[in-house]
Amino acid sequence: MGAIGVFDSGYGGLTILDSIRSRMPQYDYIYLGDNARAPYGTRSFDIVYEFTLQAVKKLFSLGCPLVILGCNTASAKALRTIQQQYLPTNAPDRRVLGVIRPTAEVVGQISNTHHIGVLATEGTIKSNSYTLEIEKLHPGYTVIGQACPMWVPLVENNEFDKPGADYFVKDSIEKLLSQDPLIDTIILGCTHYPLLLGKIKQYLPQGITLIPQGQYIASSLEDYLHRHTEMRLRLSCGGTCKYYTSESPDKFHASASLFLKSDIIAERICMV
Ligand code: DGL
Repeated sequence: MGAIGVFDSGYGGLTILDSIRSRMPQYDYIYLGDNARAPYGTRSFDIVYEFTLQAVKKLFSLGCPLVILGCNTASAKALRTIQQQYLPTNAPDRRVLGVIRPTAEVVGQISNTHHIGVLATEGTIKSNSYTLEIEKLHPGYTVIGQACPMWVPLVENNEFDKPGADYFVKDSIEKLLSQDPLIDTIILGCTHYPLLLGKIKQYLPQGITLIPQGQYIASSLEDYLHRHTEMRLRLSCGGTCKYYTSESPDKFHASASLFLKSDIIAERICMV
């Protein structure tokens, strides 16, 4: 029996953890933020894979039978290789799930114009993961991506609600919408972005629906556990949550407590 592991490069995955815990408070959870090496968004494919695999191995060593990559960049660049190459030979009884497919699934229920915008890190946009996934699930849809290279640093550095963030938020939204006036639905394809939601809403024209991922990842996980009884029965149900960070626990405590609006005590963990 073990906890559900949730991984992110930094604080962003807390938005996913929060939604999952609200929906399924009965399970135990372990959160791991690789804050010392965040952001991942501009890193190469090989490095994101290497760092993500290290995190997955850590969470396995802490007893997690199931790990959620609460990070789009890691889901885009590392998930498939972990699922297809690492797990079958090294951990055939464990599972690793990502955040891109469950998010891509929901756009079909929301968009009327079938023109979808994606705001995400440079790595996620360059990987084309959202375009490929949406085209597979919803043939004929148009997907326009816009990288927002400054948004994660704004969150990681606690600047997400300061006046300096306005310029970068407005600029990226305008760049996205200028590419296609028919966009009626925007995916916030980075788990850090819900922390900028106040500012994003401020600069978004009316009539555009935003998709923050948390609630969809939570319902998709609930559905997965419903379908996979063998995994559900391996999850411990103590209602606890432990936090690990590769950076200073004090720094994590200060920022994470602010984001989640509750007191969070983290332990430092060495990633290798
Ligand atoms: N929260 C991440 C994501 O969803 C990561 C961002 C980063 O480290 O650049 O993409």
